[in-house]
Amino acid sequence: MTETIRFLMCSPDHYDVDYVINPWMEGNIHKSSQEKARQQWQQLYHVLKDRALVDLVPPEKGWPDMVFTANAGLVLEKTVVLSRFLHKERQGEEPYFKQWFEDNGFTVHELPKDLPFEGAGDALLDREGRWLWAGYGFRTELDSHPLIAKWLDIEVLSLRLIDERFYHLDTCFCPLSGGYLLYYPDAFDAYSNRLIELKIPEEKRIIVEEADAVNFACNAVNIGQVIVMNKISDDLQYKLASKGFEVVQTPLTEFLKAGGAAKCLTLRTTEPLIPDHHANVTIESRILQLEGHLLDAGIMNKALDVVVGNGGSFKVLNFTLGIERQSTSSAEVRVSAPSHEVMEEIMVQLIDLGAAARPQEICDVNTAVVAQDGVAPDDFYVSTIYPTEVRVNCEWVRVENQRMDAAIVVTESPEGKTAKCTLLRDLKAGDRVMVGVEGIRTIRQAESREQRNSTQEFTFMGAGVSSERRVELTVEQIAWEMRQIRDQGGKVVVTAGPVVIHTGGAQHLSRLIRDGYVHALLGGNAIAVHDMEQAIMGTSLGVDMQKGIPVRGGHRHHLKIINLIRRHGSIAKAVSAGVLTKGVMYECVKNNVPFSLAGSIRDDGPLPDTEMDLIKSQEEYSRLIQGADMILMLSSMLHSIGVGNMTPAGVKMVCVDINPAVVTKLSDRGSVESVGIVTDVGLFLSLLTQQLDKLTRPLVETV
Ligand code: ARG
Repeated sequence: MTETIRFLMCSPDHYDVDYVINPWMEGNIHKSSQEKARQQWQQLYHVLKDRALVDLVPPEKGWPDMVFTANAGLVLEKTVVLSRFLHKERQGEEPYFKQWFEDNGFTVHELPKDLPFEGAGDALLDREGRWLWAGYGFRTELDSHPLIAKWLDIEVLSLRLIDERFYHLDTCFCPLSGGYLLYYPDAFDAYSNRLIELKIPEEKRIIVEEADAVNFACNAVNIGQVIVMNKISDDLQYKLASKGFEVVQTPLTEFLKAGGAAKCLTLRTTEPLIPDHHANVTIESRILQLEGHLLDAGIMNKALDVVVGNGGSFKVLNFTLGIERQSTSSAEVRVSAPSHEVMEEIMVQLIDLGAAARPQEICDVNTAVVAQDGVAPDDFYVSTIYPTEVRVNCEWVRVENQRMDAAIVVTESPEGKTAKCTLLRDLKAGDRVMVGVEGIRTIRQAESREQRNSTQEFTFMGAGVSSERRVELTVEQIAWEMRQIRDQGGKVVVTAGPVVIHTGGAQHLSRLIRDGYVHALLGGNAIAVHDMEQAIMGTSLGVDMQKGIPVRGGHRHHLKIINLIRRHGSIAKAVSAGVLTKGVMYECVKNNVPFSLAGSIRDDGPLPDTEMDLIKSQEEYSRLIQGADMILMLSSMLHSIGVGNMTPAGVKMVCVDINPAVVTKLSDRGSVESVGIVTDVGLFLSLLTQQLDKLTRPLVETV
């Protein structure tokens, strides 16, 4: 049997570490010993010669890595796919290897110029011949895999490498006879690991620990039951022995300095074809269109990063650059992904960037019918805050009630087509819901240059980066917009936490409500309780708001207040009874500003006005947010996140919190309209009212 196995090697006459194209070469330039390299290579050569035939390709001066013949190409039977090296440092090897293959009767396939593929370094046949494992991520481009599948007529399973120390598949992955696999899982992304686990049963997977992996234990040559490799740990040796393998260790330290070992130094040139296995690629490709300020707004970069970052690959088919400042660009990009699952993940993110499949390609909407009330079909599309359109019967239909984390229900009737964001709990059996990623596009507003250049986050009282003037500028801007909104009959919604009261903001917020700047207030039990505690007893959570010190027995105050309001039946009734005469809640009642208090597990009381049914309070919040132009989120993380989830893009959100993490969390929703301000909320409100006073003073004088 062994006579029929042949390997190709290349003597290390010109071998050296001359340049750095992988992490192993770093710090090793000219550090390998010529003499020792020759000895180690000879030893490997003899180990193989005892068990197989070894052919030699003449070494070429100036191409030091030519010893690594695994990278010559990928052989199956008498066909070879020649390598297209990524780095110019190795591209010069290509013609010599090509020559050798032609001289030895192989049919040579060559990939297009800019499609890197590094041969058997990145493509390993299952030893049972069932399929080809093909790596990508560093040296080989995913798009080369379908061509290989076609030329060799074999099923290709793509694996993505993510640790640059293991830049070639054969550095961390070695299929063995009997269906075994020796590999280092951490070198692969999660999808690839899943694929490996799907194809190779657990008892056949031999996992290599990092210590052995970095000694190139996986870079092994397997001939029947023999495995030839560099030095490995006793543990691994026992593991392999227990599976019936004989390990032959041969030192290859000098080649490790260039990032290669036993397997890299050889190319198996007898790889028999298994007759009933045929080409089958799971790789999916599709063509997408992108339009907008692709370059100025950085959309193109982001889109391509999304593709590569998720394990896909791309080819820009055409790009039309808008040449005036205001003109938009458009691009067509072919995106490939190793599986349908990865493609969907990429698509979902690209849709958020405004990409869409060519509309002529999708006519039938991609929907599935809800089978059970309150439960969406598996593959349902999860909505985002961006204005979205879906394709219903060959037409784009705008989605209503845009919000994030909902399903999109479409209807078609003689009156017309509709699409609507619908919460899971509101789905009804029989509803048609958008699934997958076909026929969905979002409309992204272009961000202005100014918005893009600023970090969108202002820090006041924050350590180090504090810039009072910047906060003032932002507050000026917000005041200006609030005045505009008020005067044009628009809507400002405030979400506020109890900190507004503790920091002395009650009087300012009360002013804003009284002066008509606030059109709905969203909060919880606590803000109302502490506001009324302050209004009636002068303390907030037992702290005297004038003197700033705790009052004896003050911790009981808020319960007294709750009790008082409960006696009256509601906040409004307490106002009519003349019990509550000032403060935030008082102003809401007096000025007919609707409010909604959402309950939570920690609530004392609660107040009669607090809605303890969360589904109802979500509905109330969402009703009050309808039509908002601006939402001020004042020191309340939970309520603000809740509000953020219900709010479509396009509504300006101003998030104020002393904790930068909260501000980032809230303003980092991708919405270009969000502004985050890190500051004391009481201070912010004080600045805001001052600024509004300034803006309205001339008007008041003329009255
Ligand atoms: N220095 C060579 C390179 O970076 C090493 C190649 C190792 N070959 C392999 N099949 N892993 O390309």
